[in-house]
Amino acid sequence: MPPLLQVSGLYKVFHGQSSVDGISFDMEQGRCVALLGPNGAGKTTTLRMLAGLMNPSRGRILFEGNPIGDNYRRQIGYLPQAPAFYNWMTGEEYILLASRLSGMGGKAAAGHAAAVLERMGLQDAARRRIGGYSGGMKQRLGLAQALVHSPRLLLLDEPVSALDPIGRREMMELLRDIGKETSVIFSTHVLHDAEEVCDDIIMMNKGRIAEHGTLTSLRAKYNRPVIILRVEEAEEARLWLETLQTRSFILESRLEADGSLLLKVDDIASARSVILREAAERAIPLLRFEAGTLSLEDVFMEAVGG
Ligand SMILES: Nc1ncnc2c1ncn2[C@@H]1O[C@H](COP(=O)(O)OP(=O)(O)O)[C@@H](O)[C@H]1O
Ligand SMILES: [Mg+2]
Repeated sequence: MPPLLQVSGLYKVFHGQSSVDGISFDMEQGRCVALLGPNGAGKTTTLRMLAGLMNPSRGRILFEGNPIGDNYRRQIGYLPQAPAFYNWMTGEEYILLASRLSGMGGKAAAGHAAAVLERMGLQDAARRRIGGYSGGMKQRLGLAQALVHSPRLLLLDEPVSALDPIGRREMMELLRDIGKETSVIFSTHVLHDAEEVCDDIIMMNKGRIAEHGTLTSLRAKYNRPVIILRVEEAEEARLWLETLQTRSFILESRLEADGSLLLKVDDIASARSVILREAAERAIPLLRFEAGTLSLEDVFMEAVGG
């Protein structure tokens, strides 16, 4: 069986600028993939091409081994970043319309619409006009629209970014649930969202894939020991920190926003004992000393260039 999705050498060029700059990845059936990246990374452009709504400038998208064609639209559900609704319609009318547009017959459409509205917790609001819905309700209606025809692949563009904490929580729970039965790609600029729902992460930056892997493999790959130090403002302490950074057991050092110094080391035990011994010998006024490992947040900042 070919992978669900095979993307190779995908480009989208606008006015001579590459918004998507040659991305390639495979996605297996049943996975939940987070497309993670800062604003302007190319997430929306990528999803629109995957949804078949925009032609790539170059490259190839295969769905179960076949180029995407007319039948493809029935296989996928797509929730745009800022969905537009007809506010005068009721939620039920909107979902019925969406299911008819996806090619369902009248009877099937009615049954599916009722089921999906209930699943999204919108059964009581179904006969009310969309104009009166909250942001969270509109987003769940958008998800209902994307799900009503039971697609094989769900493409969701920043489904939680614009929501308040309660709306976000509700949506995340729905996504986790849906992820168990459908293949999902969802984009976000928040690492925490990606960690919460998905097993696979594609980190995008400036139109390219900076990192791709399972959450576990990315954590393991970047699992470098670090020591974080902060000292009181004092000439001697400052000089000591400077010499410390040039030592052979320090692989890399970085000044953090709060004035702490982050040191990547090869051997945490010996680095710790050297640093603590020297600090004691010189009576350096330490404010903070921490030994640990880089978090995925650091990985993300590194991958996207801070
Ligand atoms: N229709 C368009 N015409 C011109 N430039 C575009 C268009 N759509 C997106 N871009 C540009 O492509 C880049 C990536 O945008 P986008 O895919 O929306 O990123 P993201 O969703 O990650 O924020 C941005 O620099 C954006 O300005
Ligand atoms: Mg976007």
